[in-house]
Amino acid sequence: MLSKYHWWRDAVIYQVYVRSFLDSTGDGIGDLAGVRAGLPYLKKLGVDGIWLSPFYPSPQHDHGYDVADYCDVDPLFGDLAEFDLLVAAARRLGIKVLLDIVPNHCSSEHPWFEEALAAEPGSAARARFHFADGRGADGSEPPNNWHAMFGGPAWSRVTEADGQPGQWYLHMFTPEQPDWNWRNPEVGAEFDRVLRFWLDRGVDGFRIDVAAGLYKHPELPDSDDPEADARTRDSVNPLAWNQPEVHAVWRGWRSICEEYTARDGRERLLVGEVSVPTAREHALYVRSDELHQAFFFDLLSAPWEADAFRKVISEAMQDIAGTGSTVTWVLNNHDQVRTVTRYGEPATEGSGLGAARARAAALLMLALPGAAYIYQGEELGLPEVVDLPDDVLTDPIFRRTGSRARIRDGCRVPLPWSGQASPFGFTSGVESAKPWLPQPDYFAEYATDRALADTRSFWHLYRDGLQLREALPQLGEGTLRWLESPPGVLAFVRGDGLVCAVNFGTAPTSAPVSGTPLLSSGPCPAGVLPGSTAAWWMSDGTESVAP
Ligand code: GLC
Repeated sequence: MLSKYHWWRDAVIYQVYVRSFLDSTGDGIGDLAGVRAGLPYLKKLGVDGIWLSPFYPSPQHDHGYDVADYCDVDPLFGDLAEFDLLVAAARRLGIKVLLDIVPNHCSSEHPWFEEALAAEPGSAARARFHFADGRGADGSEPPNNWHAMFGGPAWSRVTEADGQPGQWYLHMFTPEQPDWNWRNPEVGAEFDRVLRFWLDRGVDGFRIDVAAGLYKHPELPDSDDPEADARTRDSVNPLAWNQPEVHAVWRGWRSICEEYTARDGRERLLVGEVSVPTAREHALYVRSDELHQAFFFDLLSAPWEADAFRKVISEAMQDIAGTGSTVTWVLNNHDQVRTVTRYGEPATEGSGLGAARARAAALLMLALPGAAYIYQGEELGLPEVVDLPDDVLTDPIFRRTGSRARIRDGCRVPLPWSGQASPFGFTSGVESAKPWLPQPDYFAEYATDRALADTRSFWHLYRDGLQLREALPQLGEGTLRWLESPPGVLAFVRGDGLVCAVNFGTAPTSAPVSGTPLLSSGPCPAGVLPGSTAAWWMSDGTESVAP
């Protein structure tokens, strides 16, 4: 059957941030054996697959997004034998496994970068990266004015073999993450090898880090607006991101995936982290011979307003679904403030408004046509931990900008599994084990054992939503038609009659449809859609479609 073959088109994938999922060794850091132990939990939740954040050997300057060896496992997380056990266990449970691949940059401890540092300016070893002479009489100014995404200039100066300050190298993130030079064919060839290494070990695909990166403008000219580049974490510098040449890389990777599918009939998935200015540009990445999917972050960045959500959903449906791919919806990930906190309003803190909205957003996302990604802890309704003390923060953004404004540690605090006190079952074996980021006491309320026992929990909402997606042909792929609805309410019909409505306001409104209630994100009396609530119905066909 087509939809089973193209399993990814409406898959729900669970993002496992390995270091915070489950720790099997008692060192306070989650690991691959912990992921394996957690698979039955994920099976019960009903997800189709998992995406594992990077577990490769790495000095962990950016928690594994600084890769020193693309074809191994960091001892912190286990070894290749444990990886194989994890893949086999997931396969037995019917859970797909996606790896996180980081092709824009590596670690400054990658052997090729170490070789480049030891080599001469102009050498073949340096040509795998972007090395350039500095500007000014003594070369002490960076080669251009680009900013790094995590603060500071995008260039660092090296010391040459003679002990003198020498060339500069480009790093769009931290200095510990030198950017590869994709204009050098050796780089592409090496990544082809890496893909095959993991495909041969049985993985179902890859989440591609910074997939609008890789190529830079060939002349590395100055940016016209370096201040704008510095202000935002989005990829705004048009000279450093979204270069046309990158599309050839995705065509090549797609053909490698197809080659494996041709051998065994198992379709592999490439899902890109694509941050580009418009849905239209985004759509170029998912043309039929490029990436299968690309995260659509506009939903995640939309404010909690019906019109904003309607706009981004309509654009995605028009531009992305128009390519023949499906939209890949996402509300949370390891780089963003969790929805419960993001949708809360400081003035109403503690009122449960953020949680109610996050529940409604989840039902909305699960009702949209396409694939959805859930970030670990989202199914527990975990809030962002906003009061981590400075001395425990590990996000390089904090160190490099001196600001807490955009830091990402608060969504990465290790998961609570059970019990009343930290480590809440996160670590096994060692009672005194300390999770790598401190868990607040209130995490007890969110522990998985409590969530599973309480049918009103976030967990049950996600589980019920996933079960309905599995059971009802109207969900998953297919059409979406907007329904007429009062201001502040979004309502749409899927397929031949599944209706989803969301009330973005706080006052109740009448339900925009009559029919059989299927699921709601909060108590929903007959005929009413309370504020900050979403609901699904099987309609009796009386709803009016918007003109
Ligand atoms: C992506 C990752 C983020 C990482 C960055 C650099 O945006 O999601 O966590 O820091 O790339 O690799």
